[in-house]
Amino acid sequence: MNLDSICSDEPNAHAATLISYDAAQPRSLQSRLQKFVDAHGDLAFSGDDGRDLAHDIVQYPAMMVPKMQGGLLDCFQTEAQGRPLSVVDPFMGSGTILVEARRRGLAFRGVDINPYALLIAQVKSTMLPGGELDALRVAVDGHIGADTSTALDHDFPGRSKWFRNDVARALARIRRSIRKIEGVQQRRVLWACLGETVRVSSNSRTSTFKLHIRPTSEIGRDIDAFAVFRGVVSRAVDLLKRERSRWDRTAPAPELQLGDVRKVSIPRSDLLLSSPPYGDNGTTVPYGQFSYLALQWMDLADLPGPARHAVKNTHALDTKSLGGGLKNALASRADLEARSPALAGFLALLDAKDADNGLKRVVAFYRDLDSALERCVDLVKPKGHMVWTVGNRRVCSEAVPMDVILRELLEARGCTFVTDLKRVIPSKRMATKNSITDTMRSETVVVVRNG
Ligand SMILES: C[S@@+](CC[C@H](N)C(=O)[O-])C[C@H]1O[C@@H](n2cnc3c(N)ncnc32)[C@H](O)[C@@H]1O
Repeated sequence: MNLDSICSDEPNAHAATLISYDAAQPRSLQSRLQKFVDAHGDLAFSGDDGRDLAHDIVQYPAMMVPKMQGGLLDCFQTEAQGRPLSVVDPFMGSGTILVEARRRGLAFRGVDINPYALLIAQVKSTMLPGGELDALRVAVDGHIGADTSTALDHDFPGRSKWFRNDVARALARIRRSIRKIEGVQQRRVLWACLGETVRVSSNSRTSTFKLHIRPTSEIGRDIDAFAVFRGVVSRAVDLLKRERSRWDRTAPAPELQLGDVRKVSIPRSDLLLSSPPYGDNGTTVPYGQFSYLALQWMDLADLPGPARHAVKNTHALDTKSLGGGLKNALASRADLEARSPALAGFLALLDAKDADNGLKRVVAFYRDLDSALERCVDLVKPKGHMVWTVGNRRVCSEAVPMDVILRELLEARGCTFVTDLKRVIPSKRMATKNSITDTMRSETVVVVRNG
């Protein structure tokens, strides 16, 4: 089996200027989107992605480009001629679109299956006034200073593998100090900061989202978890205060829900703006593994929704996410193929390669994505738009045409294709002389109308 991680299909340096239109659609939206693309070249936003203030308080995998999502939001807002749109993101992650919607004073609803994502999103949109955020920084520092105990009074399976004893003692002291803080909103800000502290002070590499032990030489590095935590809190308080000063306080409070989008029930919004996973977490981005250690140190009772299932083991959350369960996957193949010729074509490629495991994973992912889409159609008002940012990951060295599959599955559920925009992503890797494939990845923004 060869399941490559997320990877682009054939990149095209001019891809962003190639937009396909549905001639039956009104021109104004399409020309507005075209203007947005033209104004931003290849939509790369390199060096200027807008990841500032609340966007930047805590790391989460695969965060979207704020400037691009904000720009898309503006196109639809202008289209609505001043009527404030309500926005939904069913795969909210750490809340990139939430922050952009909040900055524009728009009503926002968000869903994610990962309690750590929901916590970060809540903190990014906290309504705590600046004075209270400052007081919080002082209060937690006071509790840490007053706690002279070196007790390691918090433990979990695998703790000694992932944390040095001195680091674990420091994290336990920070944990005790946060629990002394009054107010759950206040503690949530600090839990998110502890999550970021855990990320940089654990024995797991920060270069990958998977749990992956560091080499011994790195495990012995200098770590002062208190200093890391103080730095993270200080920075977060400063960024959140500045974020807050940009908000329209009269805007409706965001409604955030922890749960599987296939099962949620929330009122319809005008616009769906989202970026779903590009494949099963296990072989693309393991959001659950990324969150596992951070969640272990938190008081789960403080989190917005039941979170115990997420810390049962390192794979629990990833197994519950789209494509996480392979059982009976192939039973859905014929039905999916009937609705998506692009998926049928791709599965035939895997058949020809005898790639049984890859095939099962792809079918399981699209089975789950399709049932999520069934739900998503009910989250948007009739004639409202859905704007999906997706990437074509590779399986067995073949690019899965997710942009086309998504479009076909949505059309089969009564949606009308409007347009798609290609985005070229410059890789962080150094450009090798003649290899554009090594230096570029691409994403597609698929726009459809509900009905
Ligand atoms: C590409 S990320 C979204 C990133 C986000 N837009 C951001 O900028 O931070 C996809 C998200 O989908 C979530 N997810 C996966 N399966 C889900 C499901 N069944 N229901 C809800 N969320 C799910 C993951 O936890 C992850 O946070």
